[in-house]
Amino acid sequence: MLLREIKIIFHLELDTLYGKEEVASFFFILIEHYLNLERFVLALHPDIVISKEDEQPLFESLAKLKLNHPIQYIIGQTTFMELDFLVDENVLIPRPETEELVQWIIDETKHFKKQLKILDIGTGSGCIAIALAKNLPGSKIYGLDVSDAALAVAQNNATLNEVEVTFILADILKEVAIDEKFDVIVSNPPYVRELEKKEMAQNVLAHEPDLALFVTDENPLIFYENIVAFANQNLKDDGTLFFEINQYLANETQQLLKANNFGEIELRKDIFGNHRMIKSVK
Ligand SMILES: C[S@@+](CC[C@H](N)C(=O)[O-])C[C@H]1O[C@@H](n2cnc3c(N)ncnc32)[C@H](O)[C@@H]1O
Repeated sequence: MLLREIKIIFHLELDTLYGKEEVASFFFILIEHYLNLERFVLALHPDIVISKEDEQPLFESLAKLKLNHPIQYIIGQTTFMELDFLVDENVLIPRPETEELVQWIIDETKHFKKQLKILDIGTGSGCIAIALAKNLPGSKIYGLDVSDAALAVAQNNATLNEVEVTFILADILKEVAIDEKFDVIVSNPPYVRELEKKEMAQNVLAHEPDLALFVTDENPLIFYENIVAFANQNLKDDGTLFFEINQYLANETQQLLKANNFGEIELRKDIFGNHRMIKSVK
């Protein structure tokens, strides 16, 4: 079949679901990933023919897109802080807001001369830990998660990006016995309340791991409470705690930090204008 005919089928089948522009973007991502074809190939060679064998992954992807699978899970990869990451349905797809949090940590810490010890709690794909390791060479980075399937993905990502990160399997909602004291603790923990589910896109709800996303309406700050308690033990004096936060719970998160004697609290908005991250010092 001609490549442009396949593109027409993509638009016919998917435009009502995603809109024309996004479908074009998916199509180009897929031909680049599976066929190693640059996106401008259609303009240069409008009659390029695709073999039956090469068509197959494109049509399989089309079927998955119809079922709301995120494109990142379909091709098994994404980018974060200009680095490549492998992703599967055991890990959250890294978000642009989280890149802003990582950039904040880099800006705050890169002038330190000493070797920093940094712990990322709820590391998932390892995106925060690995991007920090890449941008803060000389630092010792740790990533903790309760999911061993997520940690397997994170370890593959550390190898792919040629950095060393120590991964720890542990449940932060239980007693975590780690001997280390850290200069920085960062976390993007689960923070979406059940009541916010209705605001979320179908492809997130159906395919991203519940374990990474949701908390109860009754105790939405459970992870923040446990991480603050852990930081009281395992963050050095003057160490810094960075959180990605639920935009609707910025005040409550600030209060939690104040109540635990954390100071120099700074709240920041993300590119979408929502309160999304907070920094405080022990
Ligand atoms: C919102 S995701 C963040 C993933 C990644 N750090 C990112 O920013 O894309 C939260 C992560 O916390 C992990 N998690 C959930 N419950 C946990 C627990 N009790 N202890 C440790 N990690 C947990 C999930 O497996 C998931 O990887």
